[in-house]
Amino acid sequence: MKIGIFDSGLRGLLIAKSIVKAMPEYDYVYLGDTKRVPYGNRSPDTVFEFTKEGVEHLLQKENCSIVIVACNTASARALRKIQQEYLPKNFADRKVLGVLIPAAEECAKFKRIGVLGTKGTVDSHTFPTEINKFNQKSKIFQKAAPMLVPLAEEGETKNASPFLVKYLKPFFNKKLEVLVLGCTHYPIFKKQIRKLLPKNVRIISQDEIIPKKLKKYLERHPEIAQKLSKNKTAKILVTDITKNIEILSKKWFGTKTKPELVQL
Ligand code: DGL
Repeated sequence: MKIGIFDSGLRGLLIAKSIVKAMPEYDYVYLGDTKRVPYGNRSPDTVFEFTKEGVEHLLQKENCSIVIVACNTASARALRKIQQEYLPKNFADRKVLGVLIPAAEECAKFKRIGVLGTKGTVDSHTFPTEINKFNQKSKIFQKAAPMLVPLAEEGETKNASPFLVKYLKPFFNKKLEVLVLGCTHYPIFKKQIRKLLPKNVRIISQDEIIPKKLKKYLERHPEIAQKLSKNKTAKILVTDITKNIEILSKKWFGTKTKPELVQL
């Protein structure tokens, strides 16, 4: 059985790549819902419906034993319902994990935390809720950065500066210790964000923490790890395909894996 990775678009390939690098022995299948990206400004019900369809495809058609929902919006809006209602009824022996709680756990080591996310993630209040479960004393400041997703999907980093300044400005007087990039798409701007933030502010980027957390999870859950096949394969599935999607998936994941079109 495989490890599935789901994202609303292509940018989750960055997390996928870092997971594959940390554990190259397994078989992976990535699904990007490129037809319906972005999820960040959609209603909770729609995000649930889309996420459920993506996860279902990975569990049913791709025989994944475990699925990582790499999208923060989907982790915030849909994951709990998938774990508590959908899985027990339909795939009781499989696991679906998100990227938000592992990041929240890292954030909770600090007291003054900035969260940059999509509108959906920020409105859901999931980051502050989950961080405060780990550390009640943490003070969390959130800012939605909606324009960064379309810029990232287009690979447009150079023209993002005015938006980055606009979104980061509210954090400048908050004496932050750490800023979490709470969206799959933001690590592409990591270098620019680093330059704009005071030097003492750390940046938490999920592509750096999720592989370690997943590795530890599999060590703690041999019943899942034992089911995973080890042929070192990777497959990329998308719900819409264009020349640009092919170019970006090569750039972000590697030249060997050509995206295949699927219908959810
Ligand atoms: N993948 C989404 C996230 O991490 C960002 C893109 C979108 O809005 O769909 O929140």
